[in-house]
Amino acid sequence: MQWLLFIANHTLPMEKLTVTCSFERFASRDQLNQTIQPMLDACVDAMHRAYAPYSSFRVGAAILLENGVIVQGNNQENAAYPSGLCAERIAFFAAGANYPGVRIMAASVTASSAQYTEGDPVTPCGGCRQCMLEYELKQDADIPLYMMSPSGEVTMSPSIKQLLPLFFESKGKF
Ligand code: THU
Repeated sequence: MQWLLFIANHTLPMEKLTVTCSFERFASRDQLNQTIQPMLDACVDAMHRAYAPYSSFRVGAAILLENGVIVQGNNQENAAYPSGLCAERIAFFAAGANYPGVRIMAASVTASSAQYTEGDPVTPCGGCRQCMLEYELKQDADIPLYMMSPSGEVTMSPSIKQLLPLFFESKGKF
């Protein structure tokens, strides 16, 4: 009986929220402009230098800064598994550590493994989305994220926010 009441109460929401996301798809990275292509090259380059002896899943990330610098990152694994870190976080933290206050114009991620040689572009994990979002909110300007498959197909999200509906924001909470 109690269970039935629970269901009934939750079938009448006060309000319905709909989140719309839109992405751009490119069949190949050659279709992107000359500002973005060097960042994607750096992203692939970083992926090849990943330290992933446990998963054999190599991830690369690259960030284009307003001053023209491209910051790279790749996944770094550890024998104590949770101690490793994703490529995106390494790149964003490196940008934050070395170029504080320099605006991030765009970011990219790619990956490959023996099993993942083709298919849809890789997408970042939830933890990385929240971490990348921090920098987008801090600079108060969207960061387009280019997500690339091993064969070079690209999905572009115009912002990080869009990848994380109902994201956690600390502002005004503590
Ligand atoms: N990984 C990333 O580098 N980025 C992500 O967004 C998800 C996963 C890494 C973590 C680990 O080294 C390997 O990929 C397999 O999960």
